[in-house]
Amino acid sequence: MGVVLIGMMGSGKSTVGARLAEECGGRFIDLDDLMEQVAGMTNRQIFEERGEKGFREHEKRVLSSIEQHERLVLAAGGGTPAFHDNLAKLRALGTVVYLRVSPQSLFERLRDDRQDRPLLDDDLEETVLNLLDKREPIYLQADVTVDAEHSVEDIVADIRRKVGW
Ligand code: S3P
Repeated sequence: MGVVLIGMMGSGKSTVGARLAEECGGRFIDLDDLMEQVAGMTNRQIFEERGEKGFREHEKRVLSSIEQHERLVLAAGGGTPAFHDNLAKLRALGTVVYLRVSPQSLFERLRDDRQDRPLLDDDLEETVLNLLDKREPIYLQADVTVDAEHSVEDIVADIRRKVGW
């Protein structure tokens, strides 16, 4: 079984996922990056041309194309588990791990890192709180929740302990 990382934008899914895969000889896939490769345009462009609905359709299709792999490490997008039957698809790919971060840390991490995230074009704090409100119950359906306020090394160690890698 692989490991699938879910959580808010800014929770560290890509950084932690890459490190976890490196340590464990896994194959790392960042769903956002794969979506851009497949579409031949940036996710911001997909949002602009096709709206969020089109973006979510594309996300669903690209997710469906990912095959199971024993040491797959998949970093989902922040919204991935909240749409369509994506959560079931993520579960089929591996142990689902929620990287949990406080709203305050998310504000700080995202403040200077918004250009690739069209959902954050408006008021950052309000948007993050609204999204968290809707998504936290979904994220908490993960098999494992880790406190992602720590260093990348510590988070990776915690995940490895909890998933038995
Ligand atoms: C989104 C999160 C982004 C990306 C898109 C939408 C979301 O991924 O998929 O901008 O709905 O939370 P990251 O969580 O990797 O930033």
